[in-house]
Amino acid sequence: MIRKLQSNDKENLVSIIQRTNNFNDEEKKVAVELIDEASANPNHEYYNLFVLEDNGDIAGYHCTGKRALTDGVYDLYWIVVDNKYQNKGIGKKLLDHAENFVKENNGRWILAETSSKESYNATRNFYFRNNYSIVAEIKDFYTINDNLIVFGKYIKT
Ligand SMILES: CC(C)(COP(=O)(O)OP(=O)(O)OC[C@H]1O[C@@H](n2cnc3c(N)ncnc32)[C@H](O)[C@@H]1OP(=O)(O)O)[C@@H](O)C(=O)NCCC(=O)NCCS
Repeated sequence: MIRKLQSNDKENLVSIIQRTNNFNDEEKKVAVELIDEASANPNHEYYNLFVLEDNGDIAGYHCTGKRALTDGVYDLYWIVVDNKYQNKGIGKKLLDHAENFVKENNGRWILAETSSKESYNATRNFYFRNNYSIVAEIKDFYTINDNLIVFGKYIKT
């Protein structure tokens, strides 16, 4: 079941983030800040956070929202599946849900920013396999030798 974030989900989501191997400390901090922001503002204009619950356990979440100053571009701010639930198709379910959310809101693009680091290989493959393509890349963005890679999918209506 995929449902909207509830205020008592925070602790579980923070522990999923802390266990995510490819996130460094700063990425974890920013991911937790977003959970705080979304929990404090359930009807947040940009941060629409949805969790996938499996037998009462939270297996992962995505946070998707409209990009300011556009009339139909959506950012997939974060998509995270708990380590112990990865490679079982849960990421795909969350991604499909995010795309449907964009469709329902008459969006046309869904964009996901990621890094060129080796630790993000699996994440980049995940987007490729789900028919995302690289729509932009900025060299030496996060640090020297760590490019910003923007994956995108044009949502057909
Ligand atoms: C990227 C991420 C969200 C993908 O989630 P996931 O649940 O592992 O994704 P899926 O299970 O849908 O797909 C991953 C793999 O599992 C495979 N898979 C899916 N269902 C399967 C099943 N029933 N049995 C076996 N394998 C399966 C997929 O084919 C894919 O395999 P491949 O890489 O060999 O092609 C997850 O790895 C993650 O949270 N990573 C860390 C955080 C991160 O980087 N987030 C993105 C940036 S914010």
